[in-house]
Amino acid sequence: MNKALLLMLVLLSAGLRAQQVPDWYDAGHERRIDSLLDIMTLEEKVGQMTLFTSDWDVTGPTIREGYQDDIKTGRLGAIFNAHTAEYNRNLQRIAVEETRLGIPLLFGYDVIHGYRTIFPIPLGEAASWNAEAAEESARIAARESAAAGLHWTFAPMVDVARDPRWGRVMEGAGEDVYLGKVMAAARVKGFQGDDLTDPLTILACAKHFAAYGAAQAGRDYHTVDISERVLRDIYLPPFKAALDAGVATFMTSFNELDGVPASGNEHLLTEILRDQWGFMGFVVTDYTSINEMVPHGIATDSAAAGELAIEAGVDMDMQGAIFYEYLAEQVRSGAVAQSQIDEAVRRILRMKYALGLFDDPYRYSDTTRESENILTEANREAARRIARESFVLLKNEDNVLPLAKDGGRILITGPLADSQEDMLGAWHGDGRAADVITLLTGMREAAGDKAQVQYVSDMTEAIRAARRADVIVVAAGETWEMSGEAASRADIGLPGDQGAMIRELAAIGKPVVVVLFNGRPLAIPGVDSTATAILEAWYPGTEAGHALADVLFGDHNPGGRLPMTFPRSVGQVPIFYSMKNTGRPMDPNNKYTSKYLDESNDPLYPFGYGLGYTTFEYGAPSLESATITRNDTARVSVELTNTGSVAGTTVVQLYVQDVIGSVTRPVRELKAFERVELAAGESRTVTLELTEEDLSFYRRDMTYGSEPGAFRIYVGADATTSNAISLTLE
Ligand code: NOJ
Repeated sequence: MNKALLLMLVLLSAGLRAQQVPDWYDAGHERRIDSLLDIMTLEEKVGQMTLFTSDWDVTGPTIREGYQDDIKTGRLGAIFNAHTAEYNRNLQRIAVEETRLGIPLLFGYDVIHGYRTIFPIPLGEAASWNAEAAEESARIAARESAAAGLHWTFAPMVDVARDPRWGRVMEGAGEDVYLGKVMAAARVKGFQGDDLTDPLTILACAKHFAAYGAAQAGRDYHTVDISERVLRDIYLPPFKAALDAGVATFMTSFNELDGVPASGNEHLLTEILRDQWGFMGFVVTDYTSINEMVPHGIATDSAAAGELAIEAGVDMDMQGAIFYEYLAEQVRSGAVAQSQIDEAVRRILRMKYALGLFDDPYRYSDTTRESENILTEANREAARRIARESFVLLKNEDNVLPLAKDGGRILITGPLADSQEDMLGAWHGDGRAADVITLLTGMREAAGDKAQVQYVSDMTEAIRAARRADVIVVAAGETWEMSGEAASRADIGLPGDQGAMIRELAAIGKPVVVVLFNGRPLAIPGVDSTATAILEAWYPGTEAGHALADVLFGDHNPGGRLPMTFPRSVGQVPIFYSMKNTGRPMDPNNKYTSKYLDESNDPLYPFGYGLGYTTFEYGAPSLESATITRNDTARVSVELTNTGSVAGTTVVQLYVQDVIGSVTRPVRELKAFERVELAAGESRTVTLELTEEDLSFYRRDMTYGSEPGAFRIYVGADATTSNAISLTLE
């Protein structure tokens, strides 16, 4: 019997529903784990369940010192924030050569959008709507980190995020479930490759399980209170997509959910993740999140918090030292079952075996490989290519962009024009400011001696210089620390006096091109009404300036699309395209409908929106068959034409509205998309497919599936398209 079939039978007999057996599961390893478990002491087992930060780099409060002694005594099995081949080789040597059993350490790190070669922030990468690009950047990040002694990244973050005040929206794929699923799967495949024994791959971690993005008021770590239906329909699907792509680990979230913090939440960690989804990898907590169950008010003390965590299904404690302090004693006293510890250790050792660490613990610590794989020309080239695909052209009045390279006086100004560090964005791993090409450097390099590029940082001086310029490029936005963890903002406008600066420059009467750097949607109606052109650049990474020059000078035609709605004002938040209709949909002529007195319901820029240097015309959608049954595939076609004078890329987006349901359904939901590149004047028929799965949701009785009836299918260039056709499901 083959191993997959055998495992399936075991799981089925245990009443579990295995989704699929991951490639990294190996029955031979399980036997080796059995033998190891037989000879491990309780302390050594708890050691495998313990993860401490090194003192190299710290990403939260430090509460443990002396971690090297813990390695020696076998009380520490995994370390994070330690990197480079040599440093980690030395730590690994302690574990392998100086401990009783020689079990290798696992090294983790937040490799979120690159290790040393930094790619656009994940929100920017999602704006490319290009899953292959996301997979490629994760593959390169894996290759670089695997050469720098690392085995495991705490990525991808797959939290659906609908509140731009929350700083961590920069780490994910934005507001949408479907785009989130596509990007989650692509990133897992990129990090883990097809074969984890390949030393160029690393373990991925789907985080933060779950619903961290629904923090009340967008305040980090805050309470989450959503219905089970919203949890299942909106927040869980990207995690399930990561699992189906074979993700090796999950990280719990800091938030509570329905009154129970995620690290003590059995419903999430055991019922859903293990029993319903059949997850076979291990679950790590977020940083000290077991300890935090005390201030959450659900555990009297740390020991009780530890018990809650282990009962819920946590396998590894990140930095909390709770398992380390209390778990062995809890097993001895009978408060925690030995079998639970054995199961957790098995899941962790399974991944150490899958990586091949027992056969060669130093395979990720090769200094030659490190020097050959990190920040290579090829990696930089990929970073440049992917960065320019992440840019979204939000406005381009009078086709002021692209700029002409030859002739003309270009004034570059604004606080971010020559800031290397800010281009990296938050969570930039080992990315270094000194490696970064800024907007100014990139523009100067591209213009050569053809155009005059002048740079002025002082505002008064900039106003004077602007009078002599033909076009003004303003690099505005947020500094890199303004988004990421613990970086929520109550006001999501342009910080400081940047808005006033743009107004003053625009008043001179010369075209003003604003290049925006930010980790979240900004509410900038004032910039929209004053600037001539706006290019959303997020934080583009190491190759920022080259990629920007490619786009601003027209060597690359921008094709990015917004993965999150941009509000007009913070008071509209949360605002996302797939809202519900309400019983009183907005009617401007009827006061008693769902709207504001002082603000429109419309966003500044909708989800899916983005311009380019050409224009596209979408024909009316047609259906191969207007009625389908549950097992059919609906094929929706549109004729697409590039009506401009240069080649370009558009993203054909298909949204579905389930008109009447047993529960109310969103006004529309993205269910398919395709990036299409067409030459000037070229036409093509694009066909997108829908299956019953795309029409399914958690119904009134909480069963998952479709309901027969009418659906509206919208196909167009963003979430506001009215280009629609009706489909009936029998
Ligand atoms: C806390 C963050 O929430 C998590 O995403 C990260 O992986 C850990 N710190 C480790 O740095």
